Amino acid sequence: MKPSNAISIRRWYQRPRPLSAPDGFEDKLSQSVELLRVAAAMTPCVLAHSLSAEDMVLFHLIATKDLAIDSIALDTHRLPVATRELWRITEMKYGRSIRSVAPLDSDLATLAAAASDSALYTDKSVRELCCGLRKTQPLRMVLVGKAAWVTGLRRAQSLGRSDVHDQHFDAAFGLEKFNPLAHWTDDDLWYFVDTHRVPVSTLYDRGYASIGCDPCTRPIRADEHPRAGRWWWEANTATGTECGIHIAATNTN
Ligand code: ADX
Ligand code: SF4
Repeated sequence: MKPSNAISIRRWYQRPRPLSAPDGFEDKLSQSVELLRVAAAMTPCVLAHSLSAEDMVLFHLIATKDLAIDSIALDTHRLPVATRELWRITEMKYGRSIRSVAPLDSDLATLAAAASDSALYTDKSVRELCCGLRKTQPLRMVLVGKAAWVTGLRRAQSLGRSDVHDQHFDAAFGLEKFNPLAHWTDDDLWYFVDTHRVPVSTLYDRGYASIGCDPCTRPIRADEHPRAGRWWWEANTATGTECGIHIAATNTN
């Protein structure tokens, strides 16, 4: 069971609904498309697709520009039902598949033997092992032999992400990494979603600002940091807690 959140009567988070294009939006969009074209030229290139609004925008651009970038989703076996439903809807709408990348059965057995599911709330090493075996290791395996990967990281997401590059060599995984939305604000993101009718998770209408695995994601109140609903019991709202796939070095975390 998730730890209790001591929810008060304060309002839930509501996503932005900009009615007009944010300043400089068209230029930012052009830069993002150009970066995706550069990424696509580095074959093979994959989009790491979490079904977040950011990744839906990237997937939409890749599909509509017909770019040679395949998509993979890390199926941790802990994804929210709404994420699975969006995954299905997205593949149908765009006629493009999002390949499932699952943890090894042997790693899941290791995890089950190491601790109970609820231990990730009380023991950080268990949480890190879980992220390592369900996310980082499968990602590491799928990136072998790839020339580049694309993610939906944005600098505005947290202080810890404020120095995210548009493009750089990812030494942790040994390939080029592209973050084509790195310079997008929340308004940029939601303006694109609304004007292009990009499907997004229903959880965004239920107070969720950032969505990961079900046990480690909760809705937030209007005055909380957008990443406060991720691993909140370890809370580092200043920099934002990370699962490890964007800070992975040589270990499994
Ligand atoms: S996380 O590290 O805290 O989980 P976040 O949810 O903000 O990351 O997502 C940032 C980017 O990491 C996404 O845009 C996506 O590229 C990648 N990512 C995160 N989770 C997954 C997943 N389950 N499958 C594929 N890519 C993912
Ligand atoms: Fe495990 Fe939570 Fe990490 Fe998902 S986010 S892999 S459930 S610890």
